Amino acid sequence: MLLSASTSLLGSALLISSALATPAHPPIQGTNKQKGPANVTASSDWKSAIKNVVILVLENRSFDSVFGDVSYDPSINSLVGKQYCNPINITTGNLGSICASNTLPDVSPEDPDHGISGVNMQVFGTWHPEESSVQSGSQKPVMDGFVTQQLNRYHTDNITIGVRPIDYLSAQQVPILTSLAKEYVLFDRWFADVPGPTNPNRAYLTSGTSHGHGRNDVLFNWGGLPQYSIFQALSEKNMSWINYSNTTNASAAYIAPEDKTSGGFNPDALFYNWTVATKAYETNIKPLSQFYNDARDGKLPQLSYINPECCSYDSFHPPSPVSMGEAFVKKVYEALRTSSQWNETLLILTFDEHGGFADHVPPPSNVPAGDQLTYTEKALDGANITFAFDRMGIRVPTILVSPWVGKGVVEHKRDGQDGEYSASSIIATLGKLWDLPNFSPRTAWSSTFEHLFLGEQRADAVRHLPGSAQD
Ligand SMILES: *[C@@H]1O[C@H](CO)[C@@H](O)[C@H](O)[C@H]1NC(C)=O
Ligand SMILES: *[C@@H]1O[C@H](CO)[C@@H](O)[C@H](O)[C@H]1NC(C)=O
Ligand SMILES: *[C@@H]1O[C@H](CO)[C@@H](O)[C@H](O)[C@H]1NC(C)=O
Ligand SMILES: *[C@@H]1O[C@H](CO)[C@@H](O)[C@H](O)[C@H]1NC(C)=O
Ligand SMILES: *[C@@H]1O[C@H](CO)[C@@H](O)[C@H](O)[C@H]1NC(C)=O
Ligand SMILES: *[C@@H]1O[C@H](CO)[C@@H](O)[C@H](O)[C@H]1NC(C)=O
Ligand SMILES: *[C@@H]1O[C@H](CO)[C@@H](O)[C@H](O)[C@H]1NC(C)=O
Ligand SMILES: *[C@@H]1O[C@H](CO)[C@@H](O)[C@H](O)[C@H]1NC(C)=O
Ligand SMILES: *[C@@H]1O[C@H](CO)[C@@H](O)[C@H](O)[C@H]1NC(C)=O
Ligand SMILES: *[C@@H]1O[C@H](CO)[C@@H](O)[C@H](O)[C@H]1NC(C)=O
Ligand SMILES: *[C@@H]1O[C@H](CO)[C@@H](O)[C@H](O)[C@H]1NC(C)=O
Repeated sequence: MLLSASTSLLGSALLISSALATPAHPPIQGTNKQKGPANVTASSDWKSAIKNVVILVLENRSFDSVFGDVSYDPSINSLVGKQYCNPINITTGNLGSICASNTLPDVSPEDPDHGISGVNMQVFGTWHPEESSVQSGSQKPVMDGFVTQQLNRYHTDNITIGVRPIDYLSAQQVPILTSLAKEYVLFDRWFADVPGPTNPNRAYLTSGTSHGHGRNDVLFNWGGLPQYSIFQALSEKNMSWINYSNTTNASAAYIAPEDKTSGGFNPDALFYNWTVATKAYETNIKPLSQFYNDARDGKLPQLSYINPECCSYDSFHPPSPVSMGEAFVKKVYEALRTSSQWNETLLILTFDEHGGFADHVPPPSNVPAGDQLTYTEKALDGANITFAFDRMGIRVPTILVSPWVGKGVVEHKRDGQDGEYSASSIIATLGKLWDLPNFSPRTAWSSTFEHLFLGEQRADAVRHLPGSAQD
């Protein structure tokens, strides 16, 4: 019965141990050759080539969850040719283990845990990793507590529910994201900045720190974060930006300032005190429908920051169907591709965090935090954990799309830099593009990707993605 969830085909050249026989085994077997980027010329002209940057941050999916089944380039560190398994009960180990397969449904019925203490269990197999041992390397991120955390979160021993966070989408389910990856640049070693939820990660993306926030608390709603952000940085240089937003609530653009009761998902620009204090939100937050008009009319600002609707249909966040998220990405791409601004545009498509879905690549530890602040929360066992933002979150998919990047490039770790890729890499690279001040120690440390721009513009960029009537 347990084996029925373990249907993935195994690569021939790999060492496979019996998933059920050895509950405490490392969760992954297999190797990946690292391959440097091919056919890419670093260009000193990239700063004049790229005039518009569009950032689209989708919701809550790990790299393996989206690209686990993708094999168009053998250097991609996916789950193809590997077997990834978790023990069913990590505490006792005596229930055996269960292995991932490419059978994640289009609509994921549960929302797997992605709070900081829950991610501790997923990554370290305990809610309470000994942080000093983690930093010294003696406590390893073994990536095998996803099933245990899911069963605990849903108070069940039902393996169908337990296995869901380690299962992943089949390649047939993600034709749009796969086409974009094949046509442009895919990162396969890009981590969430925080091993926790949406808004702290979105804060790292837009300011290089979450200012000690580890959950989606009410201060994110309306100007509760004091730090310097990309929005302030651009406005201070008289550069244009718009946060295009979508919302399921047609009558309210966002949660009202007086609502202090619930953490929600207002436009990220509204996190910051500066945005509220300067009333920038009155001019710089627009409905998503205007993005399509601005792209059509060649009126996109220097920075477009798009947030999908949260969280029921096109954001990829459960229970959003993956197919609707794919259709949304296609619509955004084709709007840019057919815009008169296409030849000066860079689209960065990424995910905020892993949404509780598993990944087999251990996130880096012992990395610079955005600042000195820590965050404390109660784990499922009732005991507190304190987090210093010195470990990264789980790997997420990121794709660069532009006529100025190579075709089918797979970027792994950046050669010659100590840092890693994460959401902070975006503002670190925008800082180089637009000569912005450094945002935080994390931003300064993060790898940048200016070397991926070509010396000349590609003429072969596809106009339409699969599923388009025009193709
Ligand atoms: C680079 O890519 C282009 C088309 O994508 C191809 O024509 C060319 O041969 C490639 N160059 C190298 C050095 O691989
Ligand atoms: C795992 O085993 C421990 C120890 O027997 C037990 O307390 C816990 O409830 C089990 N967890 C699950 C999810 O079955
Ligand atoms: C386990 O969960 C699945 C999915 O919700 C459900 O279809 C199935 O009936 C459950 N099995 C048991 C034994 O409860
Ligand atoms: C992603 O995770 C958050 C919690 O971190 C969860 O509350 C939410 O439902 C998911 N989606 C969004 C948009 O945050
Ligand atoms: C922004 O900061 C100022 C100065 O500290 C403070 O007076 C104001 O209440 C803050 N605004 C918000 C929305 O938190
Ligand atoms: C931005 O524009 C304002 C008003 O035109 C001007 O006073 C200011 O010097 C400009 N700042 C920069 C950095 O160009
Ligand atoms: C939409 O927002 C309005 C105003 O904040 C609120 O009264 C209403 O309940 C919301 N509707 C839904 C469906 O969330
Ligand atoms: C833009 O608006 C959306 C929601 O309306 C929000 O979720 C997103 O985080 C915002 N992005 C920025 C950078 O403000
Ligand atoms: C949000 O997205 C949905 C689905 O794409 C669309 O129907 C709706 O008009 C959008 N709302 C806004 C304000 O852009
Ligand atoms: C992009 O195309 C426009 C005309 O559509 C042209 O004016 C502009 O110089 C082009 N920019 C680049 C970088 O090729
Ligand atoms: C746990 O942390 C909270 C703050 O997040 C604090 O109020 C509480 O006293 C702590 N509990 C213990 C047992 O340390």
